Amino acid sequence: MSQPVKVGFVGTGGIANGHLRNLAEMKNVHIAALCDVDEARVNAAVETYGGQPYTDYREMFDGADLDAVYFCLPPFAHSDAEIVAAERGLHLFVQKPVVLELETGIRILEAVKQSGVISCVGYQGRYMNVANAVREFLADKAIGMIASHRWGGVPGGPSHWWCVMEKSGGMLHEQATHQLDMIRYIAGEIVEVYKIDAMKVNVDQENHTIPDAEVVTLQFESGTVGYISTSSALVNGGGGTRTDFIVEGHYTLQLAWGDVRILPEDAATIEIPDGEPLSIDEAFIGAIQTGDRSLIRSSYADGLKSAAVSIAANQSSREHRPVRVPLIS
Ligand SMILES: NC(=O)c1ccc[n+]([C@@H]2O[C@H](COP(=O)([O-])OP(=O)(O)OC[C@H]3O[C@@H](n4cnc5c(N)ncnc54)[C@H](O)[C@@H]3O)[C@@H](O)[C@H]2O)c1
Repeated sequence: MSQPVKVGFVGTGGIANGHLRNLAEMKNVHIAALCDVDEARVNAAVETYGGQPYTDYREMFDGADLDAVYFCLPPFAHSDAEIVAAERGLHLFVQKPVVLELETGIRILEAVKQSGVISCVGYQGRYMNVANAVREFLADKAIGMIASHRWGGVPGGPSHWWCVMEKSGGMLHEQATHQLDMIRYIAGEIVEVYKIDAMKVNVDQENHTIPDAEVVTLQFESGTVGYISTSSALVNGGGGTRTDFIVEGHYTLQLAWGDVRILPEDAATIEIPDGEPLSIDEAFIGAIQTGDRSLIRSSYADGLKSAAVSIAANQSSREHRPVRVPLIS
């Protein structure tokens, strides 16, 4: 395909504007149509980035000439739109976490498989040189334990959908999914989880039904064990995120978002390649233009596997027992 890729959007909120900014800079992209149920939002985005405005995705799929669609929706809003798009042969970019309910994700995955469209999930960490260097470095090494945390505040403020469990799925599912996905990318599949959680600090925040603290044990297929903790109580700042791997040879590898350290420092050396990797948007558009799916580091199936871990963790906390992570194939 040498023509620009004709792109549409379902959802034109926060992250959609980030993708639109990137795509607007790319010569091989034409922003053709934008859709949001919030008319003012879609009109504002159209004014900045162009394209035809819609408030109903079906009308957009009927009326606009598209090759690909970005789904930048809150977790609760993923539904039939992705299925309809896949059935029409449109390539899908879906923001993380791909769904709130596993059953919806399985139906979408089936449509993606049946149609053969290219899919890409918004785990942009997988495209970083550091992440890929760590993945390669650890590939032939035993990992004794993985310990991760993501502690922060409340994205969007107290009246946002993010604070409502039935809309976001909570901090682990919505935000720390990046850490869970990175752990899966580096260390392989998680087969069982057990989550406990609490709400002790954000009791003074309105509209909050998500726990402000979550602790999850992780059992890996490889036999490795681990845990991840989240907090959304640090509403005045001071949070952070890091994942530690205890590695054969008796040392720790610490991975923060774009940075890696080994402790003790002389225990091993890890080379991080120079050079700018492809961004996630460049990878998705490039895969469509060339047909080279290897550019994409997280397909819909892979993204659903990460969502399945946090969905199982939420079930585990509701049922007060360890839960096996459903197999997604
Ligand atoms: N990869 C990342 O680093 C990253 C960063 C930010 C957000 N995200 C993810 O992106 C998703 C969206 O987050 P956001 O911050 O952009 O949310 P947002 O609330 O700012 O935007 C979501 C938009 O979707 C619209 N919408 C809801 N239902 C719709 C429907 N049926 N049809 C059309 N439009 C609909 C809303 O009106 C809203 O404008 C979340 O899952 C979030 O986790 C990912």
